[in-house]
Amino acid sequence: MTMHIGETEFPVYVGYEKLPELVSELKSIEFDRIFLGYDVNTKRHCAPRLEAELGRQGIDFFSHTMGVTEEQKTLSSLDDILGAFLKGGGTRRTIVMPVGGGIVGNTFGLAAGLLYRGLPLVQMPTTFLSAHDAASSSQKQAVNHSGYKNVIGLYLAPRLVLVETAFFLTLGESELKAGLGELTKNAAVFGGVHHDLIRRTTMAHAPLELSGRQLMEATYVGLSAKDMLLRHDPKEKHIALLFEYGHTIGHALELTAGVSTSHGEGVAIGMLGASFIANEMRIMSDAERAEHDGLVVALDPAIVLPTERDITAEVLEKVCHDNKRGYLPERAGCCPFILAKRVGVMHCPNDFYLEYVPIELVRRAIEYVVSRFSACAPSATASRVADAAYLEYAKLNTSPSSLSVDTLDAHADATSDSGAEPPSSHSSHSSPAPPAVLRSSSLDSNGRQKRAAADCEPHAAATKPRTVTAESCERATRRTSA
Ligand SMILES: NC(=O)c1ccc[n+]([C@@H]2O[C@H](COP(=O)([O-])OP(=O)(O)OC[C@H]3O[C@@H](n4cnc5c(N)ncnc54)[C@H](O)[C@@H]3O)[C@@H](O)[C@H]2O)c1
Ligand SMILES: [Zn+2]
Repeated sequence: MTMHIGETEFPVYVGYEKLPELVSELKSIEFDRIFLGYDVNTKRHCAPRLEAELGRQGIDFFSHTMGVTEEQKTLSSLDDILGAFLKGGGTRRTIVMPVGGGIVGNTFGLAAGLLYRGLPLVQMPTTFLSAHDAASSSQKQAVNHSGYKNVIGLYLAPRLVLVETAFFLTLGESELKAGLGELTKNAAVFGGVHHDLIRRTTMAHAPLELSGRQLMEATYVGLSAKDMLLRHDPKEKHIALLFEYGHTIGHALELTAGVSTSHGEGVAIGMLGASFIANEMRIMSDAERAEHDGLVVALDPAIVLPTERDITAEVLEKVCHDNKRGYLPERAGCCPFILAKRVGVMHCPNDFYLEYVPIELVRRAIEYVVSRFSACAPSATASRVADAAYLEYAKLNTSPSSLSVDTLDAHADATSDSGAEPPSSHSSHSSPAPPAVLRSSSLDSNGRQKRAAADCEPHAAATKPRTVTAESCERATRRTSA
């Protein structure tokens, strides 16, 4: 397919067991050699097959391997990459080809933009997330600095993107769920084929059961969503803000100390907060909320939450600094949120799809999400016995008039064409101030997300953080209520 980002376009080839065909596409570009970029995992899992194929097709290459963690997505790694390129004999005619996830794609992508003021970049994403999000549908290349995420960077579109989904078969569950989380969000936002995709994937199979062919289709569907909106809104300032659905609470959770989840799973968990709010504001009915939340439950997102303290206030503080601020005029006591009416139909109070939500309601949404995923302490379990029961409880504790969407709609209408200048840069993955705090505590020695025991026993002593998923909590709930 051809990916469009405004006026920029580039071809993306997606195949399963199509490495020879994908590699031969390189010949559409004039080059002398290929500078391959790996991390230690892709060097191990992907390099042998790729390099054998390059050799078979007579393509000259050399390579460099960087570290796997966010802490290694730095200027120092970039410096090593630039040195390896120059010492290895790279020239103005050399292609830079990152083979890896978003970390490798962004760091080598930045090197490509700097070397000789811009070398041809060919992305070969090897994580499912990067294949439909970071590498294949973005021209943003960046590294982290001083604990700030993606702050040193530039725009460079790839000349070509090659996706071999056979490479996804060595990914762990967390990496697959990271990609599936963004697709779960697309299902809620766009419905249609995006919803069908979730019915055929997470609603029918565990992530690790998905075949290379299914992941190929899923990659294509995810890319088509990006293409659909980014061609009209390359800077993600109006309609492409819809890709931020679920990100407000999800991102705030990700950035909270002691919380550990993949980006995509955090987004899916954030969707539960958004539907809580939409339901309370009478934008989304109970039945529509149940259908919406069913998408998230099917993903069974995992998150490790601290058990020694209540993080609600910290998450709320981060929500209040979310990067959706600045599109609408500030309103005291409110945060802007993207909300859905139902699966496939978004609430649209203005061009930015942003609704003013009272901070008190946001706080309750965070409490709800945190309690839903917290270790299954008896009180939390009881409040989750059924969403319907929780909804009844929530309604009894809400004054509808103070949260009426009609009043908020009227207000938003009055302010939507006020000419408020949106922030100059905006990305779902590049953090606004305050910056992301990079953590290594949640990573294992390969830089992968640690996964604690998936199940959670009610009444178990909660002395250390545990990974709790929506499904495991429901299992625990069933056991307690049985
Ligand atoms: N430029 C953008 O627009 C954009 C968009 C989204 C994300 N990002 C960036 O992407 C990064 C996250 O990317 P990601 O989710 O791909 O994570 P990642 O690059 O950290 O990769 C996740 C893990 O998977 C491993 N891995 C990669 N391919 C593998 C394979 N085939 N088999 C086994 N293991 C493999 C990696 O070594 C790593 O441990 C973040 O730094 C984020 O800022 C950028
Ligand atoms: Zn995202």
